[in-house]
Amino acid sequence: FDSPYLAVVAAYLIGSLSFAVIVSRLMGLSDPRSYGSGNPGATNVLRSGNKAAAILTLLFDALKGYVPVALAVAWQTRLGWSDAVIGFIGLAAFLGHLWPVFFRFVGGKGVATAAGVLLALNPWLGLGVLATWLVVAAVTRYSSLAAIVAALAAPLIQLMFWEPSLAALAVAVMSLLLVWRHEANIRKLLAGTESKLGQKAAAPA
Ligand code: G3P
Repeated sequence: FDSPYLAVVAAYLIGSLSFAVIVSRLMGLSDPRSYGSGNPGATNVLRSGNKAAAILTLLFDALKGYVPVALAVAWQTRLGWSDAVIGFIGLAAFLGHLWPVFFRFVGGKGVATAAGVLLALNPWLGLGVLATWLVVAAVTRYSSLAAIVAALAAPLIQLMFWEPSLAALAVAVMSLLLVWRHEANIRKLLAGTESKLGQKAAAPA
């Protein structure tokens, strides 16, 4: 299992586990793709009113980004993998969340998974980005805005403190994709119709 290609594919498959859908199904809740924003993610699961389901979704979606990267980092020296390989493993898990092979390639926006990837890739970078999310979310109550600002902050924080690298490029690509996936949120934020954290879905299916 020392091939970096196999590791990238494995990370993609793990990332493809859409925990918003899996957790909701296991807990007997409606499919998150059927209410609220329709996004299979922790923020939307929270709109079902079930906090435990939202927390579990957040935790497992983050873990599926964290675990493959943390394992790759732990085995990096033994396997002789470059930092770029580690970055691509993280990117693969993230891409799995966005386009999951097990869910007809209809996935989420990647916030929790990106957080997991960053924390494993570089804990300081991960904590900096997480702190950015928390501050924006606490001040504005918009989960989407917090994610967009945190995603824009990630490559900036990285450039400020570390040398440009292929792993940094993987982080920048994740950030760009994450912002792009929030296109509908950006439109709602500009129109003043974006729902705030804690607001339930108007009509859960
Ligand atoms: O985690 C995704 C979040 O940033 C936005 O989710 O459901 O409001 O589109 P949602």
